[in-house]
Amino acid sequence: MTDAPVYALDPSYYSDPKIFETEFKQLFTSTWQFAGHASQLVQTGDYFAFELFGEGFFCVKGEDGQIRTFYNVCQHRAHPLVNGCGSASKLTCPYHAWTYDLKGQLEFGPNLKSVEAIDCRKIRLTEVKTEVFLNFIFINMDLESNSMDQWFPGVRDEIEQFLSDWSSLAPVEWIEINENCNWKVSVENYSECYHCALNHPSFATGVIKPNTYDIRPQGYCLRHTTEARTGKSMSYPVNKSIPHANEYSSWYLWPMFSFQVYPGQVLNTYHWRPVDSEKVVVWRGWYTKDGEKNETIHQLAIQDRKTTVAEDIRLVESVHRGLKSRGYSPGPLVIDPKFGVNSEHSIATLHSWMREFFKGQGYSDQY
Ligand code: FES
Ligand SMILES: [Fe+2]
Repeated sequence: MTDAPVYALDPSYYSDPKIFETEFKQLFTSTWQFAGHASQLVQTGDYFAFELFGEGFFCVKGEDGQIRTFYNVCQHRAHPLVNGCGSASKLTCPYHAWTYDLKGQLEFGPNLKSVEAIDCRKIRLTEVKTEVFLNFIFINMDLESNSMDQWFPGVRDEIEQFLSDWSSLAPVEWIEINENCNWKVSVENYSECYHCALNHPSFATGVIKPNTYDIRPQGYCLRHTTEARTGKSMSYPVNKSIPHANEYSSWYLWPMFSFQVYPGQVLNTYHWRPVDSEKVVVWRGWYTKDGEKNETIHQLAIQDRKTTVAEDIRLVESVHRGLKSRGYSPGPLVIDPKFGVNSEHSIATLHSWMREFFKGQGYSDQY
C-alpha cells in the first residue's frame, strides 16, 4: 500500500483576516525577527529606531558594549524615546525630558523628586530579547523564547565556515520589493526550486547547477545547497581561490529571514515584512567588506532584481490570485523521497510549521 499524498495548505491560511491577525499578534511576536546590522552601532550610545508589525523599537549600544533593544516608548506618558538613528550618552524623552541610561533605567526627570512615592529605580524601559548573530541583530518579543542556536541548530557554525570574512561584512545596498501577495506565498516560492528551470533561466543557467540543488530542514531553518556554474556559463567573475567559491547556499530562518551566499562568498539577505494578508515587502540586502561600494556586487544586485526577483513577483502574485479562486482546492505536493531540485518536501515542512503553530493557538481542523 502506498502512503496518501501530502496536500498543500488550505487557501484560508492566505486570505482569512483572522489568520493574519493571529500571525501578526502571536507568530511574529514569538519568533526571531531581523532588526538591523551591528555595523550600525559602532560607538557606545549609538542607536537606531525601527518598526516591526506596528510596534516601534530601538537598538542601542551600552557602555558595556552590549546591544539591547527596547520598545520605543517612554514609561511616563508613552511618547517615543528616539527617532531615526544617532548617538547619545543618555536617552532623554522629547516630551517631558525623563532621562534613562543606556540599559533602560530611569535616572531622573524634571521635578520628579517632588513626588516622594515615585521611585525612579522601579521604572525601566521595556526590553525585548536581543541576539547578535554573526553581526546581524535579531529580536524576539517573547522573553521566554529559546535562543537562535536552539531554533536554528548548526547555522551559526556553518555560515562562519562558509563565509570566511563574515566579521568584516557590512550592508552596501538594500532593494525594496513590493509584492501583492500573502507573505507565505512569497516564502514558499523562495523555499522550493521545482519552479526554477521553467521560470529562472538566468539563475538556473548562469549561477547554479539545478541538478545539484537540495533543500533540507534543520530545526526551524531550511538549508539550500547547490554547486555553482563554472567557466563561461557563470554570469559574474568569481575568485576561485577562496573556500566554497563554487557553491551556493542559503539558510532560511523561519518565518521572515534568509541568509544567502552566492558563489564567490557574496552575502545577501531576504527579509520579508508582511503589511497585511495581501501584501508583503521584501528587503534584499547586499553586503561587502566594510560596506565598501563594489561594482560587481552592484551589477549582481541589478541583475538579480531584473531577473530572479522580477520573475518571482509575477509568480507569487499570480498564485495569490489563484488561491482565492472557487475553482481551487489544495493539490498534492511532489515529495520525492530522494529530495533534490524537483521535490517540494520543503513546502511540506513549512506547512507543518504553520499547522503546528495554529494548532497551538487552538484553531480547529478546518485550518
Ligand atoms: S512621555 Fe516621556 S517624559 Fe513624558
Ligand atoms: Fe523563484
